[in-house]
Amino acid sequence: MKLLITGGAGFIGSNFIRYWLKNNPDDQIVNLDALTYAGNLENLKDVDANPNYKFVKGDICDQNLANELVKEADVVVNFAAETHVDRSIMGSADFIRTNVEGTRVLLDAAKNNGGKRFHHISTDEVFGALQMGDPKFNENTPYDPRSPYSASKASSDHLVRAYFHTHNLPITISNCSNNYGPYQFPEKLIPLFVTNLIENKRVPVYGKGENVRDWIYVDDHNAGVEAIIKKGKIGETYCLGGGNEKSNMEITKLILDAMGRGEDMIEYVADRKGHDLRYAIDYTKAKNELGWEPRTDFATGLKDTIEWFKNNENWWKNIKNGDYKNYYAKQYGEK
Ligand code: NAD
Ligand code: DAU
Repeated sequence: MKLLITGGAGFIGSNFIRYWLKNNPDDQIVNLDALTYAGNLENLKDVDANPNYKFVKGDICDQNLANELVKEADVVVNFAAETHVDRSIMGSADFIRTNVEGTRVLLDAAKNNGGKRFHHISTDEVFGALQMGDPKFNENTPYDPRSPYSASKASSDHLVRAYFHTHNLPITISNCSNNYGPYQFPEKLIPLFVTNLIENKRVPVYGKGENVRDWIYVDDHNAGVEAIIKKGKIGETYCLGGGNEKSNMEITKLILDAMGRGEDMIEYVADRKGHDLRYAIDYTKAKNELGWEPRTDFATGLKDTIEWFKNNENWWKNIKNGDYKNYYAKQYGEK
């Protein structure tokens, strides 16, 4: 099988490429990535020499390039996106461009090349925010995106479904909860907090730290995507989650404990605008139809992730000392 992976130089995409080549060594992968601030070829150094792997630097909004690459592929897996909620609050133009228009470009390329199999990577944030006692999100939960990021992802999901209904394009969609693991960009909660503590900096908790997320280890997400590509029903959506709801304060304390630091390292900062209270995924459909469920228990996954960041200081120090420094300064002031 030949796969075109978009956004494969980012966090989940790079882990997915590594995962896929390990489990499907005869398959061929082309990775199309624009190398935005979040894309990093260092994430793929260990697969770079694999003859079944090829990198193409390019933009998913480039229709000619998309046509050329999609034509050669059996399956398109669309990871490419602008992904950070706080950045979408600071400005949403890039989010609409890549997440909506970029997905449209790839869908047209798939449609115009004989109707290529298309899997779209999406998020639980399209469903909005749960209150504490609400039942978890599932595939029938109405869409209610509340940030520019989640609105752009919701829009792309609608487009993907529209190409199925209108053009019979063989699509599937996965809506996954919060991922964590190696190579996650250190603007997201877990890698930001772990790397700040290694640098002896405090960790910025938004509001009171009451918000809840459902954490999944990145390779559990990847196994879910593999199951959907191989066994998923065309036209269907699958919700993937970690079965692991934790408040930000619980996560913060677990990280502080694991790193031998105290609560004096917490800095309470202004809350995120429109901060969604809770996300949680009911993955019963994926379990019943695909035999998939998350396997990594959180204590082990978090320990391994902290170890990875301790052992790969160069990787994240290069990022934190680069362009990201300006973004961080805008968010929290110079520290
Ligand atoms: P990331 O920000 O780490 O990586 C995004 C990648 O997309 C980068 O390599 C970037 O260079 C590339 N990219 C951005 N714009 C592009 C463009 N116009 N053309 C080509 N490449 C472009 O993201 P991530 O956290 O790995 O997320 C990957 C996907 O998974 C996204 O679609 C995201 O919405 C979804 N998702 C993420 C999570 C999570 O917790 N991180 C959870 C559920 C779903
Ligand atoms: O739910 C899936 C989504 O998870 C993905 O679609 C997004 O791409 C991904 O970025 C992630 O979104 P979140 O906004 O949930 O992740 P983030 O790591 O930014 O924040 C997690 C929680 O931690 C959230 O409640 C905000 C809080 N937070 C975050 C940061 C960066 C803090 O308290 N302090 C921080 O410095």
